[in-house]
Amino acid sequence: MARALGLDPGSLLDLSQNLNPFAPDVGALAARHLGELRRYPDPAAGTRLLAEALAVNPDRLVLTNGAAEAISLVAAEIGGQAWAEPEFGLHPRGDAGPVWRSDPHNPSGRLAGSDEVADVWDEAFYALATGRWTAGRGGIVIGSLTKTFACPGLRLGYLVADDVERFACRQPQWSVGSLPLALLADLLEHADPAGWATAIAAARRDLVALLEARGFAVEAADAPWVLVETPGLREALAPHGVLVRDCASFGLDGIARVAVPDAGGLERLAAALDQAALPDTDAPTSCNGTASMEGGPMWQASSSKENQSSASSADPATEASRV
Ligand SMILES: Cc1ncc(COP(=O)(O)O)c(C=O)c1O
Repeated sequence: MARALGLDPGSLLDLSQNLNPFAPDVGALAARHLGELRRYPDPAAGTRLLAEALAVNPDRLVLTNGAAEAISLVAAEIGGQAWAEPEFGLHPRGDAGPVWRSDPHNPSGRLAGSDEVADVWDEAFYALATGRWTAGRGGIVIGSLTKTFACPGLRLGYLVADDVERFACRQPQWSVGSLPLALLADLLEHADPAGWATAIAAARRDLVALLEARGFAVEAADAPWVLVETPGLREALAPHGVLVRDCASFGLDGIARVAVPDAGGLERLAAALDQAALPDTDAPTSCNGTASMEGGPMWQASSSKENQSSASSADPATEASRV
């Protein structure tokens, strides 16, 4: 994307991916472990450490090459269906079988109610939304340390299940590299899920205020992002070095998903909005952090079958259309 715009990739503010804006500097932490690159990986110590953080038995946990690999292992073994559409694009879209659900839900950002059920819980953003590593529900749980620690290039995720070996035996040998495994102890030492969730909630309020002050209709829930109803927002901001996620591939035309930035990112977003040739934003505003738009929310759950075609129409060639 940066190349297409003639911009330096390092200069982009990428709000199309929902990464922890308050994560430690993973590059600096990783630099201490470069010697590991000469060794084959052994996940035993990292598995024990993460299991301890999550308060689960290490025999129930497998480290994976991002949550994406965990999803792929479980989908290959048991298949399944989305609890509703739209839902995260990598979840299986069968006609029956185990029910998959992201919590908080991507794209609406809403946390599941205590009465809601699923067989596979994708908790990729759970820690950032709640301040707790996991809801500790039964069933199969998938997590993403690449979201929690803002390091999607590192590829670190996990899978928790009673019969985890059933899925683990599908995993290629040495799937998680030595560098992420060595780094895991440092990452966990710097982890502050409760502090991050509090900071993200405050930054989300600031983001909503900034957008509403400029006349945008915003829907915010529990996740480290908000939805904004403005067709063409992605195209208008991109030339100014700010990327947001167009939700058309979720079946939500005219809606953009904007990740919660830190204070510096918010300033950059404000400047980009002020310079951009924006579509008319004279729409009714609605959100005070939890409310929804006049005329109904931007996102409504529909049965997974009803909306399957729009959810599966994600452009597989674009990374931004998948996350
Ligand atoms: C709900 C959900 N689950 C899983 C993933 C994949 O995470 P990872 O980068 O750890 O593979 C994403 C990525 O956007 C996501 O949105």
